[in-house]
Amino acid sequence: MKKLELHTTLEVYDTIEELAAQDFSLMQLAIEARHRAYAPYSNFTVGCALLLANGEIITGNNQENAAYPSGLCAERVAIFAAGSQYPGVAVLKLAITASPKDNSFHKPVPPCGACRQSIAEYENNQENDIELFFMGAAGKVLKSDSLSDLLPLVFDKNYL
Ligand code: THU
Repeated sequence: MKKLELHTTLEVYDTIEELAAQDFSLMQLAIEARHRAYAPYSNFTVGCALLLANGEIITGNNQENAAYPSGLCAERVAIFAAGSQYPGVAVLKLAITASPKDNSFHKPVPPCGACRQSIAEYENNQENDIELFFMGAAGKVLKSDSLSDLLPLVFDKNYL
């Protein structure tokens, strides 16, 4: 038996102000999108903004439903919108902010497993990695250089 070790290195920014100007702007758009979330059942609001290689920025937020599983996370709302409006255009960066509506949560909130799987589909189909930034309502921002850092051992089309 051998052991296989998997390593992930993330960058930690103390506040959004520490981000480079373009990343700061992207996170600001995610924050604005979060405030438009439709989350009457969980009261947990998530905003996402992603930058495409053609310069377009697509935003999304969580959309809940009285039939709970029919709702969708902010990240998938955004990345599916990008895929549907700009098929084949690479996603360069993705910013996420999440917190209860009262802005009380100040630790970085990573994307859920289902969203990681969905984002991986796009990263695998393009040449460049997707940079991901995630935070709470405020406070520290974590950055991963690639979705694959957040989802090692991904299931993808190579297994089909
Ligand atoms: N949510 C997201 O939008 N993204 C995630 O990555 C995790 C969870 C949403 C789904 C639901 O509307 C609320 O947050 C509580 O789970």
